Amino acid sequence: MKFGKRTEFEKKFYEDNLMGPSAVRIIDELAGHLTLTPDMRVLDLGCGTGLTSIYLAQEFGVQVFATDLWTPAVENYKRIQAFELEGKIIPIHCDASQELPFADGYFDAIISVDAYYYFGTGADYIDKRMKPLLKSDGFLAVAMPGLKKEFAGNVPDEMKPFWVDEVNDTFHDLNWWRALWSKSESMHVTDAFPLTCNSEAWQDWLKTDNPYAKSDIAMMEAEGGKYFDMLGLVGS
Ligand SMILES: C[S@@+](CC[C@H](N)C(=O)[O-])C[C@H]1O[C@@H](n2cnc3c(N)ncnc32)[C@H](O)[C@@H]1O
Repeated sequence: MKFGKRTEFEKKFYEDNLMGPSAVRIIDELAGHLTLTPDMRVLDLGCGTGLTSIYLAQEFGVQVFATDLWTPAVENYKRIQAFELEGKIIPIHCDASQELPFADGYFDAIISVDAYYYFGTGADYIDKRMKPLLKSDGFLAVAMPGLKKEFAGNVPDEMKPFWVDEVNDTFHDLNWWRALWSKSESMHVTDAFPLTCNSEAWQDWLKTDNPYAKSDIAMMEAEGGKYFDMLGLVGS
């Protein structure tokens, strides 16, 4: 399956390594909002199986620190080796809710696809954890599933069976995220937009054999294109 100009994934590899709505479709569209050049050092935060890291290294020639909590670095290293990208991608295992093991001012960009809502909902997260790691002209770019409009306590009946606390705490609309980021004293939002790949990204995921995808099918049928969006935010 061809993504971008240079990145091709064998169908089984792609499907086996998805962890949610297609990270590759999402990074491909998010990257269209960014300036990425081969001299850049990028932190891919919550990279999962590293599909986005492989894409960023191949498409733009950037150096990527592929950082994740649930996926062991040794597993990502095997995928990185399979793509002969050892010189470009460094796999790291760590928890983004804690102090990250990087020097201040180290990155040109921090990019996070379908992960930021797990650790970035605190009001001081940007000032405390993100901005210090960036060079003075660096940027933070995030894409993640969210809502077209906040439910604000009125969860639609058809969504109630799926609206567990974790979803309620993490699924928000673009205005909610923009308001959160505007609390930062060190960064301001330069771009905030819905991604057009939302439906295709979910369809790719729901077609996989992953048991988590199977359990998402009922939720996405109930949602029926009415409530969910794929959100993009960029700040510097
Ligand atoms: C739904 S998966 C998406 C993975 C990948 N970005 C993708 O789109 O395929 C969410 C990812 O967030 C990562 N994550 C969640 N909490 C994290 C934390 N505190 N620190 C680092 N990564 C975290 C998990 O390890 C997981 O890989």
